[in-house]
This record gives sequence, C-alpha cells and structure tokens, in this order.
Amino acid sequence: MFALPEKESRAPSTCPGPASTQDLDSNCGDGLERECSRKPDQKLPELYGVGDPTAGFSSNSSHLSSRGGIIKWFWDSAEAGYRTYHMDEYDEDKNPSGIINLGTSENKLCFDLLSKRLSQSDMLRVEPALLQYPDWRGHLFLREEVARFLSFYCKSPAPLHAENVVVLNGCASVFSALATVLCEVGEAFLIPAPYYGAITQHVCLYGNVRLVSVYLDSEVTGPDTRPFQLTVEKLEMALQGANSQGIKVKGLILINPQNPLGDIYSPAELQEFLEFAKRHELHVMVDEVYMLSVFEESVGYRSVLSLERLPDPQRTHVMWATSKDFGMSGLRFGTLYTENRDVATAVASLCRYHGLSGLVQHQMAQLLRDRDWINQVYLPENHARLKAAHTYVEGELRALGIPFLSRGAGFFIWADLRKYLPEGSFEEERRLWRRFLDHKVLVSFGKAFECKEPGWFRLVFSDKAHRLCLGMQRVRQVLEGKSPVAEDPPACQTQEPRDRHR
Ligand SMILES: Cc1ncc(COP(=O)(O)O)c(C=O)c1O
Repeated sequence: MFALPEKESRAPSTCPGPASTQDLDSNCGDGLERECSRKPDQKLPELYGVGDPTAGFSSNSSHLSSRGGIIKWFWDSAEAGYRTYHMDEYDEDKNPSGIINLGTSENKLCFDLLSKRLSQSDMLRVEPALLQYPDWRGHLFLREEVARFLSFYCKSPAPLHAENVVVLNGCASVFSALATVLCEVGEAFLIPAPYYGAITQHVCLYGNVRLVSVYLDSEVTGPDTRPFQLTVEKLEMALQGANSQGIKVKGLILINPQNPLGDIYSPAELQEFLEFAKRHELHVMVDEVYMLSVFEESVGYRSVLSLERLPDPQRTHVMWATSKDFGMSGLRFGTLYTENRDVATAVASLCRYHGLSGLVQHQMAQLLRDRDWINQVYLPENHARLKAAHTYVEGELRALGIPFLSRGAGFFIWADLRKYLPEGSFEEERRLWRRFLDHKVLVSFGKAFECKEPGWFRLVFSDKAHRLCLGMQRVRQVLEGKSPVAEDPPACQTQEPRDRHR
C-alpha cells in the first residue's frame, strides 16, 4: 500500500498513461503512485461524450429496413473476442488449450447449490393458470414475492407493493423497455463512464435512445475522494454540455454496485445524485443487479430503496435480476420496481414480448420465498466463494505489481495495465487485449466500457479455481512477454482439490 500525492488542481489530468489513484478501502493494488502533471499547453480532458451508437454503420442487406439493418449491424459488430471464444471454449477434458473466459460477467461458482435447489420437487408445478396467458406484468403470486423479497433485502423503510413490480426476462429488457417508454427517439440518458457497455445497445435497439457519458477518471483530487468518483459537479457539467449540443437528456442511469468499477455509492451520494435528477426533472434508472453480490460486509452497501425518502419517487425506477446475484444469467428473470403507474403499465405492455413462462414464474417465486435457503445456505456460501476467488486474483495481480480497484462487490477487478502501453493509446490497449486472446485468455478492455483512459482492463474472477488459475497464468505469460505456449504450466492441471475457492 502507498500514500498518494494529492493534486492541487481539481481539473482532471490529461496524461494518457500514468495518473494517480488512492488506496480504496485497502483494496486497491499497489503501484499507482505515479506522478502525472499536466503541461500548460495540454488541453483539459473531455468531461462528457454524446454517444453515437451507429457511427460506422453500414448495411449489407437489401432485405432489411434501415432499422433492421442497424439491429443486424449491432449483432455483427459485437465484440470479436466473444465470437473467437465461442469457437474455441476451454474445456478441461475436450479442449484444454481452449480460451479461458475472464471477460463475461457471470458467477460460475455456485452451480452445485443452485442445481440442487432448483431440482427439488416444489419447483415444478403444472396447472392451467401457468400454461395460459398471464397478467403481462407477471403473475400476482410472483410480484407479491418480489415485493417481499426486495423489501427484505433492500431494507426498505416500509413494505414495497406488488402493484409497483413488473417482471421481465432480465435487466437488459428492463433497460430496453424503460428507454422506449420514457424517451422520444434521439433523446438521451446520462451515464457515468466507464459503464457496462451493452447498455448502449439495450437503450438503442428498440427505443433509439442514446447515452451521454459522464467521464470519470482515475485521478484522486483530495483526501476524501476516490478514483473514478462520480460527483454532482460532473453530472451538472455533462448535462449542460449535452444541452448545449441540443441533446435532450431525459434521465440518469446509476449502476450500484457499479460495473466495471465494483464501486459502491454511499447513501449520501445516492441522495445527492437523486436530488440532482429531481432539480432537472430527470428520471433515474437505478440498476442494482449486483446488490446481493457484495462479499465484503464492511463495504456497507445500501440499496436506493432503503432510503428514508426518495426525492422524486415518480421518476425513480429500480431494477434487479437473478442473473448475477443468483448466478443464473441463462434463466432470464428481471424486475422493475417503480411507483409510477404509467411507467409500470407501459413497461407491462411490452412484457407481451419480454415476459417469462408461467413455469419459470412459479420457480422464481419458490426460490425468492425460500429465505432459509437463501440466508443460511446460498448467500454465505456464495459470498465465501466470491471472496476466495477475489483474494486469489488480487494476490496474483499484486505479485505482478499491477494496481487495481475493487471494493468487495461484483465479479470483477478493474486492473490498471497502463504501464504496458508505452504510448498510452487505445490502439495499444486493443493490441494488448489481442495478445491476451492469442494466449487463450479473454478479458475486457476499458474502451468497451467507454473508459476515457487507455489501459484499464476488467478481469472477471467468479469462476472455478482451476479455470481461474489457468486464466491468470496466461495473463502472467502475456505481461511477462512470453510467447503463447501449447501447454499450460502443470500447477493448474494437477492441483487438487479443484474447487479450492469453495
Ligand atoms: C450492470 C448490469 N446491468 C444489467 C446487466 C444485464 O443483466 P441481465 O442478464 O439480467 O439482462 C448486466 C450484465 O452483465 C450488468 O452488468
């Protein structure tokens, strides 16, 4: 650990490479204390950016509408690394030299617990109501269960109500539906960047809504500040900037715990951001998809629904899903909580296309109501495994002298690889990412999250020990400049027990 020099100016530095950040609740890696002073002739950095999701679009189909062409183009231009990965996935027995995926934010640590619980006899019920057209908002029994679940785990000061709940197939659909019902075509949401990049697509594909990035940087400007910290000042500047460009901003997106930073907003910060939104009559979409994946209790995470008073309840919309917290990204269950009846009804209308089957709704209600299993089996074990996996990757990064940010929430570490980019450019960032892939390990680079500083990478650690170990060995090979090897070093191949993160 190290002390970091405080900057005199509050203006962010423009240094492309080194900057400084601080110890983040003792979870920040070593080595970030490099000086970065802005020369007088250097420009101030961009404070915001209006996204143009279809920049570079070209259609190669005469069969599609222009809208269909754009929708197809999003698919075609999806991250090449994921296509490469799917063609060459690592498999311990069938493809041991395949690609290890440290890029997708999924929790693969608790399949044993989940498969056992989901295989119990109470999970399968077949009755007429479950096979017929449902209430599109979701069956009442499920919405009531969701309301009880969120009241309990979000620690709401008063019970939450089933009529404010809408059930959809995942948070991606909640984003998509909210964007479509809240904005006109071409309007925008503010979003602190770096952010989970797929939101660009979620709000654009149906709604044709854009994002205005509020750029955060790694520099620490005072004793009570942290790297990539969001402030109301930054929100105000981005909003003004977008307005001056004629962009109508309709809302603000907050992800808490944040992806990819793993950062957590304090209740006071949340309150300030909500007050900012109220002043400007902005909707706030709060994505709490990682709320139960906080594995460091000392972090003191608080859901927005736990606040004593929401400044503008009619414009505050909260989303949660089982994809992350219950490690079930393939099951597709997400929920919106909003007191705004018009918004809930409009989203419910879209559930005709984004709903869940009756059988899955029954399963989810059974799962969410099983407080004993969640509290006594699943959550403690899941948190212990996340913590062990995190500790392992943290240790590997420390051994490599790589600084990183991580506060004990989510599935990823935000690693600072800027020292490996001599020019500090995004081209170098992409080349380094390519080298990882050539060494058969998939990670995510900062540009995919609209990070303004080249050289940051997201590493997902929520995987089994064996794969994690191999993945980190391959990361090490790249950073130590070794050429790709046909076989991995023996340590991970023989290590027993495999699941030492359990
Ligand atoms: C912050 C955040 N929100 C939403 C999603 C998408 O969630 P779902 O799989 O429930 O659609 C993700 C997936 O990575 C995410 O990281």
